[in-house]
Formats: sequence, structure tokens, C-alpha cells
Amino acid sequence: MVREIEDLPRLEVAVTRALPAQVLELFRNRHDIWVNPHDRRLTPDELQQAAGCADAMVVTAFDQLDRDTIARLPERLRILATYSVGIEHIDLDAAARRGIAVLSTPDVLSASVAEMAILLMLGAARRVREGAALLYGRTWSGWTPTQLIGIELTGQRIGILGMGRIGRTIAQRARGFDMKIHYHNRRRLEAQLEMDANYHPTLEGLLALSDVLVLAAPSTPHTKGLIDGARIEHLPANAILVNIARGDLVDDDALIGALRSGRIAGAGLDVFNSEPRLDARYLGLPNVFLQPHQGSSTLAARLKMACVLLAGIDAVLAGSRPSNRVV
Ligand code: DGY
Repeated sequence: MVREIEDLPRLEVAVTRALPAQVLELFRNRHDIWVNPHDRRLTPDELQQAAGCADAMVVTAFDQLDRDTIARLPERLRILATYSVGIEHIDLDAAARRGIAVLSTPDVLSASVAEMAILLMLGAARRVREGAALLYGRTWSGWTPTQLIGIELTGQRIGILGMGRIGRTIAQRARGFDMKIHYHNRRRLEAQLEMDANYHPTLEGLLALSDVLVLAAPSTPHTKGLIDGARIEHLPANAILVNIARGDLVDDDALIGALRSGRIAGAGLDVFNSEPRLDARYLGLPNVFLQPHQGSSTLAARLKMACVLLAGIDAVLAGSRPSNRVV
């Protein structure tokens, strides 16, 4: 039975990390919330305690909701709402078996993440890290025609691995640089989504002509370690690699080797294996432009992420199936 929104109950909602004040306000207006007061990742026991008297729990991509954790969640908890587009931290089968609805935040953060991809691409191409080091290190001795020669992106080929909503938004922004769009995906897009983009049925086919390779695919057993030494060898000379997806798509040894040897020109990375303890070798590489997992970190995205979760929770309560329901 589908219920009217006005008839829906206020829930007890546990929120596992501090969220921006305006975002918490949105949750508070609709539900009774408990928020992790420590603003650090909860231990598995603390997570269970937090879930103790909650009907729903708002988690992040850094809370591990594996099979055992889900099995121990109290009967009362009916909804897991992840404040992320990534869902690799949740054992979806285990949630489905328990009858727990899982909601995520697709689409609403695509613009912010795409902007981060463009920043990383420019940061690597225009050697922003080295430029900043000259200024902040007070070692800049003035303009010279040979100073920090970079790569002009206009007209270059961008290869997007993963042409979902984020990938397509990156393509849209890259068109503003007159870049030629290429992509690899499990399936070719329909014509109205593909537009002028060129589909490559194999990853190797995409790599061979990616002057800028952007990783925008989710972390799955299939994509883990996908960008290894052999695949990097397919990239053109002077290529740039950008990762706004997940660190585990990349074999760090292989990428660091290629950056050190000059096999590729540079990289722009927002995500890492074993965050926040990224491979320290990246820090010593001048041709790498780094950000600390900031892709969706804009107030606009954060607010929309809350709205889409709140709407999803209402829909579940009302007995309908929201588009952001994963299981
Ligand atoms: C996401 O939404 O998946 C971001 O990477 C933050 O977790």
C-alpha cells in the first residue's frame, strides 16, 4: 500500500559521521537524529551501538557494512542510507537477505565530481603542483620562456573509463575544451546519451588513444587493479591519468613506475588505495597533482545528497521504490 507523505512517521535515524550543519538541519527537520559526536570512523562495536535503537542509519563510504556487520544489525533497522554514490562498502546481498533497503546518492554529485576531474586534469597538465612549490617555497625568480612548460588540453583526446552519470558529465565539461570524447563501458550508450563520444569495446582500445585517461568507473571485483603495468603501456606518450573514482582501480607500483620513468606525463588523483594512508611515494613526485578525496565536497552536492536520501527514505516508508534504492 502506498501512503501519503503527511502520514509518514518520524524515524530514529543514526548518522555515523558529522555532516555539514545545513545538511544535519535537513535531516533534523524530518527525523529524530543521533550523530556520531567523535567525527571519526566508528568501530564495528560502536556502529552496532549506534544502530541499536535506530530505524534507519546514514552511513558513509568509509563505514564497512560487510556480511557480519549487517547480520548483527538490530531487527528494527530497516533502511541503510549511504551518503555516497559508491556502494562497494555495503554487502548488498546480505542487506537484501535481511530485508534492509539500501539507498545511495547517484547523480546529485556528478557536477561536483566532474569539476574535480577537470581540476585534476588541468592541475596535472599545467604542472600546478610545481608552480605552487615555486611560489610557496619562495624560489620563483621570475618569468622565463622555459618555465614549467605544460600540455595544452584543447583538441586533445579524453578517454573516459566508465560512462555513467559522472563520466557523461565529465565528457560534457571536456567538450568545452574542444576535447574529442572516447569511452569504454560495459555497454555502449544509447545514441542520445553517447552524442559525439566514440565507444571502444575494449579497454586497451580506449587506452591507446587517451591523451587524458579519466577513471570514472565504480570499484567492483572486475575493476580492482584494472590499471596495471601492462595496461599503462597502451597509453600514448605524454598521457595524463586522472582518478576521481576509487584508488583500488589502480596498481600503485605500476603508476608510480610510469610517472617516475616519464612513460606518462603526469597524474591527477583524488582517490587512493588504503585512504587516508596513501602510498607516500606519490608525495615525492612533482608530476602528480593530488587532492584528498574531495570530489563531492561542495555544499551544493552535500545538500542534494541529503535531499535525495530523505526523499528515498520517505518513498520507502510510503511503500514505493525510489530510483536511488539499490536493494
Ligand atoms: C562517494 O560519494 O562515493 C564519494 O566518493 C564519497 O564517498
